[in-house]
Amino acid sequence: MKANFGKATAIAFALALAIGVSAQVAAAQDGGRKIEEQFKNIQALNGAPADMLNPTMVYFEAALGVGCPFCHDPDGNKREVDTERKRTARRMIAMVNTINQNTFGGAKVVTCMTCHQGRNKPIGVPFVVTDQAPPALGEAYLDSLPGPAPIPNVTVDQIFNKYMTALGGADALQKVSSLTARGEMIQRRPARDFPAVALEISAKAPGKQLIVSGAGQNADRLAYSGNSGWTGNRDLRRAELDGKRLEDAFNIATQLKEILVDPKVDHPEVVNGRELYVVSARTQALPMVKLYFEKDSGLLTRLVYHTDSIFGPYPTQIEYRDYRDINGRKVPHTWVIAGTRNREYTYVMRNVQAAAVDDGVFAKPARQ
Ligand code: HEC
Ligand code: HEC
Repeated sequence: MKANFGKATAIAFALALAIGVSAQVAAAQDGGRKIEEQFKNIQALNGAPADMLNPTMVYFEAALGVGCPFCHDPDGNKREVDTERKRTARRMIAMVNTINQNTFGGAKVVTCMTCHQGRNKPIGVPFVVTDQAPPALGEAYLDSLPGPAPIPNVTVDQIFNKYMTALGGADALQKVSSLTARGEMIQRRPARDFPAVALEISAKAPGKQLIVSGAGQNADRLAYSGNSGWTGNRDLRRAELDGKRLEDAFNIATQLKEILVDPKVDHPEVVNGRELYVVSARTQALPMVKLYFEKDSGLLTRLVYHTDSIFGPYPTQIEYRDYRDINGRKVPHTWVIAGTRNREYTYVMRNVQAAAVDDGVFAKPARQ
């Protein structure tokens, strides 16, 4: 028992260290600005890098299973206004910091998710065994799980090369080095239907992409070009930029080696009956990335990345489906981006073409 506790704590410390390091990276890139220097009414999160505010709010949403207005004024321009729930959340932040400080030596072991588990009110009373109750996931359950499959005798380069070959080879990627696509984006949340919106994507090797979703004046625009990106009037945060580059199904193959830090072959997995090779890595700004390649076809079918917040990371998962041939190059025509709090976006491309794309479309528009 004691040994187990030691191990868990050691892992937690390593995690806290990793989070600390990437928080410093974010701070350095943000000119070292702190949250309280960029925002108006900060009383609990003082001292953390300004870039950490947004991911931490997304983390709160995910942990409590709520939206921003649960804690904030319904007017999105008044986030500094205090509400009863914002005050409660500040007490919770203080409580979590105290628990971690006093009981876990300062490591980020207890988070909002530990108690809340996606509910605004945590459940304190255990369930009786009925069909409706969630299954018990204790020692009997853990013992019943098969151990991880052994790490295969294959190198990261072999996996990446097979992926390149499956896409048509470096020649095909060079020949069809820019693409335009039209289709639609469908957002799904439980108990809420959203109409599909028009989607237009322009992409160019090695790493440039513009996504326009919606139509006319209200269309949302997001673009990146190598190491910088923007949406609307603002620049993307470092972690956001790395995430968008990983989500870019058109350019990911030619960017992998540049984006990934420390890629390693991990335990393989079976998903939907297919054997997958798994490569795990991180990026400059994201603490964890996992890529899933089909063992047989060599194609990339899934990618999961973690974004850091003050209280711990949260995941985003992308599935690349429906690979079709465009002038000798294989291009996924559907990709599904699943975030936390049941947010899921499906991009369905209907008209993908090899076409010249002017570099100007990726540039941030001048401020009006
Ligand atoms: C669980 C409650 C909770 C949720 C949900 C939440 N917030 Fe917050 N938010 C807070 C608290 C508490 C603060 C103040 C932190 C402090 O005092 O250090 C805050 C502060 C902010 C601020 C800084 C405002 C200022 O200028 O002082 C912004 C911006 C913000 N939140 C945006 C968001 C967005 C966007 C979402 C949804 C993605 C969100 N929040 C969801 C609790 C929440
Ligand atoms: C040790 C367990 C625990 C942790 C950790 C925890 N909470 Fe809570 N939280 C609770 C409990 C229990 C309640 C419900 C209290 C009640 O029913 O009045 C609650 C209630 C809340 C509420 C009010 C919900 C409502 O319906 O009005 C907010 C907001 C909240 N927590 C935010 C957070 C945030 C943000 C974090 C992480 C910084 C966090 N909590 C971490 C136990 C916890």
